[in-house]
Amino acid sequence: MGSDNEIKPADDSGSTVYVFLVCIVAAVGGLLFGFDTAVIAGTIPFITKHFGLSATMLGLTVTSVLVGCVFGAAFAGTFSDRFGRKKVLLACAALFAVSAIGSAISRNLAELIIARFIGGLGVGAASMLSPMYIAEISPARIRGRLVSLNQLTIVIGILVAFFVGFWLKDIPDTNWRWMFGSEALPAVLFLLFLLAVPESPRWLTKQQREDEALAILTRVGGQNRAKAEIVEIKDAIAHEENSISQLFHPGMRVALTIGVVLAILQQITGINVVMYYAPKIFAAAGSTVNASLLQTVVVGAANLIFTLVAIWVVDKFGRKALLLIGSAGMGICLTLLGGAFHYGKLEGPWVLLFVLGYVACFAGSLGPVVWVLMSEIFPTRIRGRAMSISTVCLWIACSLITVTFPIMLEKLDAMVTFGIYAVMCAVTFLFVLLVVPETKGKTLEQIEKYWMKQKRA
Ligand code: BGC
Repeated sequence: MGSDNEIKPADDSGSTVYVFLVCIVAAVGGLLFGFDTAVIAGTIPFITKHFGLSATMLGLTVTSVLVGCVFGAAFAGTFSDRFGRKKVLLACAALFAVSAIGSAISRNLAELIIARFIGGLGVGAASMLSPMYIAEISPARIRGRLVSLNQLTIVIGILVAFFVGFWLKDIPDTNWRWMFGSEALPAVLFLLFLLAVPESPRWLTKQQREDEALAILTRVGGQNRAKAEIVEIKDAIAHEENSISQLFHPGMRVALTIGVVLAILQQITGINVVMYYAPKIFAAAGSTVNASLLQTVVVGAANLIFTLVAIWVVDKFGRKALLLIGSAGMGICLTLLGGAFHYGKLEGPWVLLFVLGYVACFAGSLGPVVWVLMSEIFPTRIRGRAMSISTVCLWIACSLITVTFPIMLEKLDAMVTFGIYAVMCAVTFLFVLLVVPETKGKTLEQIEKYWMKQKRA
């Protein structure tokens, strides 16, 4: 990046409890994302028995939510560019509630699969809209931190789902119904809280609703800052071309490539192999069922703790530093893990330690930072659609990894399987080092200008 290409940091001193509260409400979308994708784990033994599921049908039931995610993410961008971020987030909350209740009262497998698919639509849409909305309302200087809140709630959602599964398992016959149904409560709360948050000021400006946008920005950052920011937003919008073809212009092509590649790398470096199959990995290393479940909780806790670390440092150290340190650490831990399996060094705490190290490195880097970057690198007019494309790729990559891991473990040995993910970590390291720009402390409009300069270069 040449010096005249540098994105100058914004001089932004505004910040309030208000913007923090608004972002927490939006981040409940992340909580439901985490809960919804993880709740299935606890229900598996019970739905398998209740519906007499074959392995294929179980696979279909588990995957139905991921298929919904792909469609949800695909449509959320266009809808949110057209109708606004808030309206589509409200629709997500409704989808979550319908899915929770629908899954809980399903009379047959088809109804359950449809209900799970509907939940997936909500997950896919919320997975991109919550971080995007937060990025659009946050002051530049703490934007990374606020968007990372969404990752924190995803991780909390995963943990809560695990505990719900554990607590409700002893209810006779209807336990799985309560597990699915319990999501209705946070979904309805999400809907009610959302009614109280404002629309995105950047989207409002784009709709020529400048007075409303100014009022919100004033509340977030004070009058002076808001006035300057609205000028900046209007200027950025005036220079944007009014068409989807803008997505494929040279500067934007780089931004889109970064969004898509990072989304895919976040998944093909293997995180959900650990998130969805941790007990299986520990069992393969010789742990008892109880011990492997306990180890899984420890993994969840490490995920939570290191997400907090990332939130703390993302706006200080920057996105690039975290991604570089994290991807290097993940690669090293995966190599050691593969080595432990290959050389049969499975006694002692090594497998747990390597998995924990890997998850800690992910939680402190690729977990939050990929969502942060995806929410901030695109211009306002196309942010929805561009983030949609990246998020769709993320969910497709997630589905592929989830489906292929058990097969790879069986057909290749564990060292090759984990080795492949480790190579992907090396690819991530190089990609970040060579291609990803630092966006810490810049307003979304300064980042946009940076791409425009690239276009001319
Ligand atoms: C990823 C999810 C993953 C979660 C784990 C998120 O950033 O997008 O796929 O399950 O982190 O904490």
